Amino acid sequence: MHKVAHSGVTVHAGINIALVKYWGKVDSKQNLPAVGSVSLTLSEPGTTTTVRFDPALDEDVFELDGVTSVDPRVSALLDGVRQAASSTRRASVQSVNTVPTAAGLASSASGFAALGLAAWRAAQLPVHGPGSGFDLSPNANFDPRLLDLVRRGSGSAPRSLLGGFARLEAGTGALSAVRPDGEWDLRLVIGLTVAGPKPWSSRDGMDLSKETSPYYDAWVASHPADLDAACDAIRRRDLRALGEVMEHSTLKMHACMLATRPPLRYWASATLAALDVIDTLRRDGILVYATMDAGPHVKALCAAVDADRVREALSPVCRQVLVCQPGPGAVPGASL
Ligand code: DP6
Repeated sequence: MHKVAHSGVTVHAGINIALVKYWGKVDSKQNLPAVGSVSLTLSEPGTTTTVRFDPALDEDVFELDGVTSVDPRVSALLDGVRQAASSTRRASVQSVNTVPTAAGLASSASGFAALGLAAWRAAQLPVHGPGSGFDLSPNANFDPRLLDLVRRGSGSAPRSLLGGFARLEAGTGALSAVRPDGEWDLRLVIGLTVAGPKPWSSRDGMDLSKETSPYYDAWVASHPADLDAACDAIRRRDLRALGEVMEHSTLKMHACMLATRPPLRYWASATLAALDVIDTLRRDGILVYATMDAGPHVKALCAAVDADRVREALSPVCRQVLVCQPGPGAVPGASL
């Protein structure tokens, strides 16, 4: 039986952006993906979370950006950690997001990666194989129970455990590193278009697409080739090849979403304006490529030397533009 520590553990994780997208589940209960994905983890924005298991607490306490919150997925993750540690101690969880407030930029990936790793460590459970310590090597072989809990929180969250380019497998949710951060000087320029809540959560949207979109099966069947092509381009550091397959993946996902009943139209007119800007930049010879998630914002991948030009071009059509760099994944943070 493990003894659960009273002292807190703090972890910071950056958000990640999928370059080849995850949309659809083979198993909604276990939140197992029907398609794989490959993403780039950013250093910022992200989430810093401190978890303390405290014998004096009668119930879990969760504070998000200074406000007491209730989230069943947070309680479920903590229950899973307690079960793994054979403990009944309740936890205090403090989380701070650096994702701009009300931006509508998903923070669940960085949130569940930081929470999962901090809680796992706070319960003194082994994160991965013996001898690897707290620093996560690029191919860190995470304890499958930890990966499982993080993925149940959010299907895209395990990718934020790893830095740089991370790959998740269809069906199993197995995680591997394709290339660590710092090895390829790229930027993701995030154009925040319109604010406001998403019309459909990813979770509900994925189920609806599977049930009703005539393009869902084609999306799933054509996905493995995109995943392999993207990983190959990442290994070769071929931005043109990566960018082309990345745009193809996001447009196919949105085609599947649009053909869902009721239609999942996440784009706003500013989304199309930003895509026009990116087309124009590309015609001017800049290698820059767009991806969109279940929301109206546009994320543009380019070389670091072109990031200022991309930011300037997107600024007139966006509310805010963030230039983000690759990050190290989930790492120790300063206690909250
Ligand atoms: C469109 O991870 O938010 O951003 O597993 O239901 O929590 P759940 O979904 P979530 O979905 C992310 C979908 C996406 C594409 C991606 O990040 O791969």
